[in-house]
Amino acid sequence: MAKQQVTILSGAGMSAESGIRTFRDAGGLWEEHRVEDVATPEAWQRDPQLVLKFYNQRRKQLLEVLPNAGHLALKQLEEAFDVRVITQNVDDLHERAGSTQVLHLHGELRKSRSTGPSQRVNGIEGHELNWGDLCAEGFQLRPHIVWFGEEVVEMDNAASIVSESDAVIIVGTSMNVYPANGLIRYAPRHAPVWVIDPNATELHQVGRAKVIARNSGTALPELVERLLRDGI
Ligand code: APR
Repeated sequence: MAKQQVTILSGAGMSAESGIRTFRDAGGLWEEHRVEDVATPEAWQRDPQLVLKFYNQRRKQLLEVLPNAGHLALKQLEEAFDVRVITQNVDDLHERAGSTQVLHLHGELRKSRSTGPSQRVNGIEGHELNWGDLCAEGFQLRPHIVWFGEEVVEMDNAASIVSESDAVIIVGTSMNVYPANGLIRYAPRHAPVWVIDPNATELHQVGRAKVIARNSGTALPELVERLLRDGI
């Protein structure tokens, strides 16, 4: 009997308890720069070294934090379910917690991509990617991040995963950002939906969702325990 599929849609709130600030908490600011001003193709054309510094700082912080109980609970859920994590986060905390099926909609902080025609993606050793770091063909390497205004190439893949769900857990995302915020529409009618977010009350208009307005670090392990005990 194939395992039932539980799909996780996670955002910055999932990593908040690991010490990585959400976009809303940071008020969208980084060192007085609006995130939208450093995480865009225009910023890369205008001042690539500022953009590289922005991501070097976030990557350095990532190397100093650990997955939290919410991430570890999703690994545990794999004992009885086919768990498919679709995350807007660019950190690797889901992977470091042991989740085996993680799709990053907005890219991965610890990977670089060639700006040449190959667009080859490689892991970044350590926490720095600097101007002058070139791919094998001699093109500058950029962060493997989907910047504001760039296409979310994994969207179709994500939508088909959601459409196969037997249950969906939306955790730690304000669902402000298109197109990720539209993914829940692909969930089958029969699939129960939970939303875990301390601010969920005023933020989420996910009609049929069961809202758990608490932090994921405690609420997610409890929900996982219930699913493992009682099923969906
Ligand atoms: N547990 C669960 N949820 C939390 C916690 C927590 N401990 N702390 C905060 N949250 C919730 C907030 O209430 C908010 O609804 O997490 C959500 C974070 O929302 P955002 O900061 O908007 O992050 P996210 O939804 O992931 O942003 C989407 O926007 O900036 C772009 O590309 C970037 O991937 C990002 C995207």
